[in-house]
Amino acid sequence: MTETPRPERPIRLALIIASHRRNGNAELLAETAVAAAPVPLEVDRIRLIDYRIERYPDVRHSGSPVPRIDDDYDAVLRRVLDADALLLAVPVYWYSMPGVLKDFLDRWSGSLRDPEVRFRERMRGKPVFVATVVSDEDRSVAEPLIKSLWLTCHYYLGMRWGGVAVGYGDRPGDVVNDAQGMAEARDLLKPLASEDIRQGPPGRGAAR
Ligand SMILES: Cc1cc2nc3c(=O)[nH]c(=O)nc-3n(C[C@H](O)[C@H](O)[C@H](O)COP(=O)(O)O)c2cc1C
Repeated sequence: MTETPRPERPIRLALIIASHRRNGNAELLAETAVAAAPVPLEVDRIRLIDYRIERYPDVRHSGSPVPRIDDDYDAVLRRVLDADALLLAVPVYWYSMPGVLKDFLDRWSGSLRDPEVRFRERMRGKPVFVATVVSDEDRSVAEPLIKSLWLTCHYYLGMRWGGVAVGYGDRPGDVVNDAQGMAEARDLLKPLASEDIRQGPPGRGAAR
């Protein structure tokens, strides 16, 4: 008797929305990627502006432990750590990332120093994808942001780099008229169907 293969469970995707407004172009681009995903997904949408995430207090060289902060960071981070893969919906703000995402990433520096979180171990190997938007006709202005996310996620933390979709738009909804960005978004999560991204070697992860 042949055994019917068990259907795989959906991939848990944390969609981290980093725009400072709702229903913006980066979010739209990311949702296009989700809708076209080649595998079943269970999507956890994390809209960062809905949460209070305090700035990282840099106590690294003070001899004091990272203080516990009574805000939403720990709960948001738990959702990120529980995900199998991340999709960052990040518009370009001043050739870089919106402050709400920068504050969130800065707090990772504290989590890296908290052995209970096992931050590096749990982030390492997680695939990460980026949907970004520029209002400049020259899409290459997104490169500093992409490089910064690549360095943080792949080079430093050893996450698997899934790829990027770059859309063009300014007013909410503009990006649907950008054929190139929408095509990139539809292809963005395709690597999730391949074993390479799910089991292949992660980034090296800088030793620090
Ligand atoms: C504070 C701020 C800074 C921005 N800086 C840039 C920039 O440096 N380059 C660019 O092409 N667009 C820039 N933009 C335009 C946004 O990338 C564009 O409006 C995008 O569609 C916003 O994303 P959203 O619709 O997901 O909110 C900026 C927008 C804001 C609000």
